[in-house]
Amino acid sequence: MTEKIQSLTGMNDILPDTVSLWQRLETTCRQVFAHAGFAEIRTPLLEATALFSRGIGDDTQVVQKEMYTFLDKGGDSVTLRPEGTAGVVRAYIEHALQAQEEVLKLYYMGPMFRYERPQKGRLRQFHQIGVEVFGVDSPFADAEVITLADRIAKGVGLSGYQLFLNTLGTKEEREPYLAKLIIYFSKFSHDLCGECQKRLHKNVLRIFDCKNPQCASVAEDAPFLMDDLSPRSRGHFESVQNALTVAGVAFEVKPRVVRGLDYYEKTTFEFVSDQLGAQSAFCGGGRYNQLVAELGGKDTPGVGFGMGCERVIMLMEQAVSVGAVREPPMNGIYFVAIADRALPEAPLQKARELVQRLRDAGVRADAGFEAKSLKSQMRRANKLGYAKAAILGEDELAKNVVTLKDLVTGEQSEVPFEELCKIPPPPL
Ligand code: HAM
Repeated sequence: MTEKIQSLTGMNDILPDTVSLWQRLETTCRQVFAHAGFAEIRTPLLEATALFSRGIGDDTQVVQKEMYTFLDKGGDSVTLRPEGTAGVVRAYIEHALQAQEEVLKLYYMGPMFRYERPQKGRLRQFHQIGVEVFGVDSPFADAEVITLADRIAKGVGLSGYQLFLNTLGTKEEREPYLAKLIIYFSKFSHDLCGECQKRLHKNVLRIFDCKNPQCASVAEDAPFLMDDLSPRSRGHFESVQNALTVAGVAFEVKPRVVRGLDYYEKTTFEFVSDQLGAQSAFCGGGRYNQLVAELGGKDTPGVGFGMGCERVIMLMEQAVSVGAVREPPMNGIYFVAIADRALPEAPLQKARELVQRLRDAGVRADAGFEAKSLKSQMRRANKLGYAKAAILGEDELAKNVVTLKDLVTGEQSEVPFEELCKIPPPPL
């Protein structure tokens, strides 16, 4: 027997039975983004490796261990994008988008790639829906992107999640703080894991990311950055919090939310849910005021988030199973053609003709492609969530009518073909 080829580890098919949730998430996002004045941008999946090593940071876990990097046939080092921000920033610079709008609000959706150890909620190909706002260093912009993520989460039926908020201050403010951290962690260096001992001098903030219980316990008593912030940064952070309160977004200030990517400064945040297991963050983001300049553009502030679709879908599935998200209402007409003894094909032919007329008029309609028993066709109409079954047999055909059965109430009546085709489409 020929050997079957399987999908790659950590790269999942999204099958038709969950696609409706994906579509609901995407539709909700597009609506929320359109109302807030965000335009879509689509960038390539493959970019020059240097974009990510410079953009995300050479010392980060993502760049060090997780990138799908290879030489293309021309010998250039290319990488499958591990996140969306760097590519959007590249496009922003390359196409001089700042010249089009002083403040530019963009969103994107699509697959990202990280060579991580797969586990629940952690994949090698996963999807993000993200936003980036360029050109303004206002706390209102930070609050706007956070509020968008909150409204999307609520819009798809999620509840019981938490928003953790932090500020990393500016690069200058962080310098003396990092020195303090190095002194602090050096005192406990023998308690830190091998990885954190390396982080101590390379990128000390990363120690807060470590899941090792001993490192986490040492990190608990480390100094807080908040104490070193300038009045300006402190004011920015307070304004973000005020704006979130006004928008009705609940949050908790968590000084240890450092994020896994190096480009952040000032506001950072994560949406987490304890229903997700170890990979609890379903959205993360923050402000990155140096990134555009670091990637060769003009000094331009930015802020955004990336939402992990697979994790949001897992939460939506749970919400559906407890009834917090409603199934879409039944709608449309399913034709049930009963084979005629004299002209076996005639009812099916008529059914297919009427299906097309209804579809052309904007009504959801379907029928089988072959003659089947009445019972199996009715079962299919119910399974597919149709509101009505239009039964078409020898008698109906002779009278130019269908027997229209309401699949909710069971009521039925004869309806002429011409009238059936005048049924107005349901509102979208
Ligand atoms: P990130 O925190 O690396 O941020 O990723 C954002 C979200 O993507 C995470 O909260 C998580 O839900 C999801 N995610 C990350 N890795 C995986 C994975 N291996 N499997 C499944 N889901 C995953 C960024 O990527 C930034 N670009 C966000 C941003 C935009 N910051 C500013 N603008």
